[in-house]
Amino acid sequence: MPLLAEKHIVLGITGGIAAYKSAEIVRRLIEQGAVVQVVMTEAAKAFIAPLTLQALSGRPVRDSLLDPSAESGMGHIEIARWADQIVIAPASADFIARLAGGMASDLLTTVCLATSAPIALAPAMNQGMWNNTATQRNIDTLTADGVSLLGPASGAQACGDVGPGRMLEPADIVNHLMDSGKVRALDGTNVTITAGPTWEALDPVRALSNHSSGKMGYAVAAAAAAAGASVTLVSGPTALKPPSGIRYQAVQSAEDMLAAVEREIEDCDVFIGVAAVADYRPAQPASSKIKKHSESVTLELVRNPDILALVAQNPKRPFTVGFAAETDQAIPNARDKLQRKGLDLIAVNQINATNNPFGSEENHLVLISEMDEIDLGRDSKTALAEHLIAEIAHRYHDQHSTQDH
Ligand code: C5P
Repeated sequence: MPLLAEKHIVLGITGGIAAYKSAEIVRRLIEQGAVVQVVMTEAAKAFIAPLTLQALSGRPVRDSLLDPSAESGMGHIEIARWADQIVIAPASADFIARLAGGMASDLLTTVCLATSAPIALAPAMNQGMWNNTATQRNIDTLTADGVSLLGPASGAQACGDVGPGRMLEPADIVNHLMDSGKVRALDGTNVTITAGPTWEALDPVRALSNHSSGKMGYAVAAAAAAAGASVTLVSGPTALKPPSGIRYQAVQSAEDMLAAVEREIEDCDVFIGVAAVADYRPAQPASSKIKKHSESVTLELVRNPDILALVAQNPKRPFTVGFAAETDQAIPNARDKLQRKGLDLIAVNQINATNNPFGSEENHLVLISEMDEIDLGRDSKTALAEHLIAEIAHRYHDQHSTQDH
């Protein structure tokens, strides 16, 4: 069976020279079994004739919100409900701005506003327009709203410039749509992830902390979301932008982090503790700034709760994964931690002269469970996070299919 069999796809076409490639997108979607309804903006019609798209899709093209004859057939709300997927290719800067602004100024924006189907955008514009702060702000808004972005690609442009802003090739756009229709490894699961350092207040302006950048935890959150999970990222203070499409809870201290995690744990299927939680906190943070009156100060520190171990001890425990950064005897120490904290899986960073993951874009991870040990090798944190999520997904599903029988 073709991968897009009977899938209702609304192909939105906006004004740009890349619109001539939209005919090829329709042809490829139909080849994959999709039913395609083309919706064009006024500007798009200057670049490609509606008749071409009607002939290829086998359905009249829709272009007007205020056309009584068309609206008496399938009206704008029906199109929005009919769609299983909306893809806008090419998506112009103007259309992106109107969509980000929540406008309903023509048929295509109105359909996008009314639909509950996923929306994908394939931007196409001059590189200066793409790089413009306003366009980037609009793209950030749309991705945070859950719109997915296909491209743009970089290269020579119709206007003679070279840079980002070229529409992806029709074959790549259709491949993306076919991939997004597949069942993803963590579809239907709730995943909670801790990341970053914690800050343990000494007084109102100072804190004890560590050098965790949060990059590994944020990459794990992005990978889990891409695998279809509904993700909550509980993060200590970092300089990073939260990945799009996740729920973000900012915290400071280990105690705040524990409270946020406890609120999630009831409905959590997988918990991944990536945070570098401070083991100790000042016993009595000063209520006002500590003055430098004396030559030395003695701090009394008390143990922080072990968030990961507490999650693993919960009677309704999720599949629980920890991280361990070790300088000596990394594997035996991590194996001991796996057992002591009662984890399903632990990911070990060995810290030595060739691997110092703090702040770096790369890392080297080894995964350890009761049953096995897998070296994921040295790679970018993004690639390692994807690999880790794939391993977690199959172990989580194995555990659940055993429990169900
Ligand atoms: O015991 P250690 O700090 O080496 O364990 C590291 C693992 O435990 C990490 O997954 C970290 O997120 C988690 N942890 C925690 N709460 C603590 C200390 C560590 O969740 N107080």
